[in-house]
Amino acid sequence: MGWQRNLSIGNFTGAFKKSKWLLSDNAGLCRGFSAMAKPELPGFDYQPKPYKGPLADEVLQKRKKYLGPSLFYYYQKPLNIVEGKMQYLYDESGRRYLDAFAGIVTVSCGHCHPDILDAITEQNNLLQHATTIYLHHAIADFAEALASKMPGNLKVVFFVNSGTEANELAMLMARLYSGNLGMIALRNAYHGGSSNTIGLTALNTWKYPIPQGEIHHVLNPNPYRGVFGSDARCYAEDVQDHIDHGTSGKVAGFIAETIQGVGGAVELAPGYLKLVYDMVHKAGGVCIADEVQTGFGRTGSHYWGFETQGVIPDIVTMAKVRGTNLNVSYTYS
Ligand SMILES: Cc1ncc(COP(=O)(O)O)c(C=O)c1O
Repeated sequence: MGWQRNLSIGNFTGAFKKSKWLLSDNAGLCRGFSAMAKPELPGFDYQPKPYKGPLADEVLQKRKKYLGPSLFYYYQKPLNIVEGKMQYLYDESGRRYLDAFAGIVTVSCGHCHPDILDAITEQNNLLQHATTIYLHHAIADFAEALASKMPGNLKVVFFVNSGTEANELAMLMARLYSGNLGMIALRNAYHGGSSNTIGLTALNTWKYPIPQGEIHHVLNPNPYRGVFGSDARCYAEDVQDHIDHGTSGKVAGFIAETIQGVGGAVELAPGYLKLVYDMVHKAGGVCIADEVQTGFGRTGSHYWGFETQGVIPDIVTMAKVRGTNLNVSYTYS
């Protein structure tokens, strides 16, 4: 994993050195790899603009002085990224990096894609803001286009500003609709960092010691490292157990990512959601699919992650990729 992570960004030098070490128990492979030329980025016909702004040290000092310590950064000497073009980023010295991170699965069409820039510029020159108390065709057109990608009765779109807000709204809707309070979420899940969604999130690195609401964190149906392997039925029984013994027998809803993202790209045991959705519906709750990291074809095989489990949720939340780093998120119901 260490060398894979290194490969995802930068000039590959770290990856090269570490890989030799990692593969050293296989002498033949190691010799072959050592003899390989240092990997180079492929050619790219683009010249970054000369950068005249503040350098990394100055930016870092200013961040430390004026921004809260919760804004952490990677590396002791973090990169000062000053320009982006499609799949590449450039630092202050003009050095090019392959952006395999894509702003944490956000920049789906690449950096500064000309079509996106043109659309933004055209709209900015025409009208920059209108509230929803007047009419503008764009919001209705966009909702229609989004709804056309959804199966079943998922046809109504609520626009919000982030994935966290989408999950906040989904939880609120589940509680108001069902008249119940308890939510069920998976261990190892990430659903946001606001005071309510922190309750749904189940990774101690992303939680604070504040009231978390009535949330039941059930066993993570991790097919590789989970206690029941890929046996979806056993994990689903844990959900029923929580409903029977940890609630009044009624719940507001169940939420799950269809592949856990922040938790480490963890899939769910095959068939799990179908079993759990039935249990949650019988307990009066609604089923929410968090597609913030998996939606819009990012799983490769399906447009929506939940399709891999053969279910149709009652509510779907999404963010990041659709706005291509603009603030656009959705709750579908
Ligand atoms: C699965 C999932 N849900 C919700 C969120 C929260 O989204 P945002 O950071 O836009 O608030 C994230 C963010 O990483 C996420 O990965």
